[in-house]
Amino acid sequence: MLEVDLSLERLLFNLNTLAELGEEITSPKDFTRVVKSSLYMVMGSFAASKGAIFQYDSEDQRFNAIAAKGLSDIKGAGFKLSKEAVKEIVKFNKPIDLKGDPAHAALLGPAKAELEKASARVLAFLVVKDELLGVISINEKFSGQDYTVYDFQLLSVMAQHISFSLHSHTLLTKLMHKYTENKGLYENLRRIYYDTIHAFAAAIDAKDAYTKGHSHRVSAYCTVVAREMGWSPDEIEGIRISGLLHDIGKIAVDKSIINKASPLTSNECRELNSHPVIGYEILSKIKFPWKGIPMMTRNHHEKVDGTGYPDRLKKAEIPLGARIMALVDAFDAMTTDRPYRPRLSFKEAMDEVRENFGKQFDPEVVQPFISVIRKEVLGEVENPSIVPLLQEHLDSVTVNRLLEGFPGIS
Ligand SMILES: [Fe+2]
Repeated sequence: MLEVDLSLERLLFNLNTLAELGEEITSPKDFTRVVKSSLYMVMGSFAASKGAIFQYDSEDQRFNAIAAKGLSDIKGAGFKLSKEAVKEIVKFNKPIDLKGDPAHAALLGPAKAELEKASARVLAFLVVKDELLGVISINEKFSGQDYTVYDFQLLSVMAQHISFSLHSHTLLTKLMHKYTENKGLYENLRRIYYDTIHAFAAAIDAKDAYTKGHSHRVSAYCTVVAREMGWSPDEIEGIRISGLLHDIGKIAVDKSIINKASPLTSNECRELNSHPVIGYEILSKIKFPWKGIPMMTRNHHEKVDGTGYPDRLKKAEIPLGARIMALVDAFDAMTTDRPYRPRLSFKEAMDEVRENFGKQFDPEVVQPFISVIRKEVLGEVENPSIVPLLQEHLDSVTVNRLLEGFPGIS
């Protein structure tokens, strides 16, 4: 290393280069471009014609080139250092002159020969908080002059600038990796979660020979009515899940009662009517990401006039989701075969809804329900959810005539 007297011109040039390097490193450009232009600035500062920036992969202890000019021999393969060598280099934390500083160059072990073969002369390691992130390598100066102490100081400062950039990039990459990994795990959990809920719904429906698919239909009907009422996506998801699970309490009810064709005794009736409370007790132990599922389940057999069960709640005391569910649950029960009677036609079912309008069913819910059916029959809905599940064809004239007669519905 030679001592040199510094001209003011050279000093200014280097300060300017450092300022430009700082600007480049903090620019929002693509990381590969930042690394490449940083390398060119370093090479330009020392009039070196060849150079490379390597990123250190601590797992396989390998330095991989992320930008290179002229040092093509080493670009693809990179080079390795032992753990001990890395430790020593981090401790030393100064540029190493392969020719002029044999003591420290020896730290590199077999990599020294590889680097020399690729024309490397000076190495400046990129270290942040005692962590080795990479190295900048440049060849002889074009002038053939040796590197000076001042050159080494300047190279150290430049290496620090680049280290911070590499450090931020490494952190960001690790974060992205963690994010992708967590996202994958989350997706898996979500799938398992939904599979479990669907399995429960299938188990509930399997108990009742007549109501196959009832939970899925109630879930689908609840979803479209809630959407029609302007619910948020989270609220809609909550009622969709609730629809799938609303009869979960039937798991505890004897199968012979559920499938009985003749009228139930009062004891059997009491057992069957216990299912909303049993369902509530099962579901309230689960920490759902959506609000209100246990209460919607508990209150899906309430009536707005206060004659329902289990809590005999009136209109606004009943959660809105449970009022939606009460309507679509009854509608599906009416329009599908039951052990004690064949299914009602759409017209007959709507007559029942009209008969119980404001008594069993909430007009605020009947209105959007009718609105959805009308839109589906008129072909105004892209993916209809109610009409295709009915076991009859509905024409728009009949449906319009039928629905127009509803009190309070235009
Ligand atoms: Fe029920």
